[in-house]
Amino acid sequence: MMSINVAIVGAGQGASHGKVFSELIDETEVVAVCDLDEQRASECAAMIGAHRVTTRYDDVLADRGIDAVAIAIGCHLRADAVISALEAGKHVLVEVPAVATTIGDVWRMVHAAERLRLKLQMGNHERWTPHKRRMKEMIVAGKIGEIMWADGDYTHDGFRPTGRGGANYMRFDLDSNQPAHDPPHWRLGFGNPAQETTAGGGGLHAVDSLRWLMGEEFAEVMCFGNSRVAPYRSIDDTQAATFTTPSGAIGRVLTSYAVCRKESRHNAVYGTQGSLEFRWHDETLWYASDNHGPMVAIDVPGLELSDAQKRRIGHGGMTFCQDRDFVDAILEDRQPEINVYEAARSCAAAICARDSALEGRPKRIPRFYQRMT
Ligand SMILES: NC(=O)c1ccc[n+]([C@@H]2O[C@H](COP(=O)([O-])OP(=O)(O)OC[C@H]3O[C@@H](n4cnc5c(N)ncnc54)[C@H](O)[C@@H]3O)[C@@H](O)[C@H]2O)c1
Repeated sequence: MMSINVAIVGAGQGASHGKVFSELIDETEVVAVCDLDEQRASECAAMIGAHRVTTRYDDVLADRGIDAVAIAIGCHLRADAVISALEAGKHVLVEVPAVATTIGDVWRMVHAAERLRLKLQMGNHERWTPHKRRMKEMIVAGKIGEIMWADGDYTHDGFRPTGRGGANYMRFDLDSNQPAHDPPHWRLGFGNPAQETTAGGGGLHAVDSLRWLMGEEFAEVMCFGNSRVAPYRSIDDTQAATFTTPSGAIGRVLTSYAVCRKESRHNAVYGTQGSLEFRWHDETLWYASDNHGPMVAIDVPGLELSDAQKRRIGHGGMTFCQDRDFVDAILEDRQPEINVYEAARSCAAAICARDSALEGRPKRIPRFYQRMT
């Protein structure tokens, strides 16, 4: 059996991929863990049985025995890390959000993957949420007709103290207007405004999931935002982006760190012959095919992983599905589901949404033609 040697880069969220590659996928072996924090890298390596630890990313890039990297370092560092990994001949699995923070970097990423014929998977595990996959199947099967509009959200209560009286989720001190923890929470953008809200703070999850459900690229965006809970930060706490598609459908993404409720990843899609609503808070997919009766709850089977496995991996085990698809794409020499073009389309849409809010005007989103299969 072919074995793919993987290096984990960033030992926080990266550990989740480490567990998947070392424990759940037979065709991969984690050969190295790389983190600037040596102790963190060592602990992660010990946990997943990797023999090599390094604090230097260049060591990983130079090692010709490493076939693929799973990159989970800070958002603002990722574009360079992704592009240099591709240029070093490695397949890349990269965490969201903010895979790239400028349109120029998005093109560099696409061109590097094309030039070197390498696989890239953007890790939006949300696409493997069982309810969202069922939604997608029903849309593709024509159950709601032609899509008119759709929406999605990515919301957290980031700034209020936790229910247990601890620091707030984003580890931000509202009085001093500074991160209350070192290192700052990644959703604070590490001081780089480009990372935050729709493009970087997490909204890319929702942009990518919505675009995938709608089955189209986004063509144009207008985005508005406000800051009601942490007004002294330079960045909006809440942003609402409205996208158009080439077919004329409308998509709306809400990203917020200020909602006074539990986190949400809601999606709804409305077509000419039916409607689908996935309500995150009660984990139920609702369907209507006429305008008279009540919506009906659709039965959705869960992932085929044990509860213990899901807890160990995190994100309900969906990381396993996304990493499995990445490995299969390498083995079968095909494009992974959130391949470099899909990643580019969603990153560009999120970047244009961010710029629209900053500039107060609509933005055209570049198109990315798929030149590799
Ligand atoms: N898919 C999701 O829902 C999800 C969830 C959590 C985190 N994430 C993503 O994963 C990223 C990491 O999250 P986290 O919670 O682990 O953050 P974290 O800050 O706890 O960990 C990041 C690690 O990267 C290391 N690092 C930074 N630069 C490095 C470099 N050049 N080389 C090697 N190591 C380097 C840091 O030392 C740190 O240990 C986030 O930026 C976020 O985008 C995604």
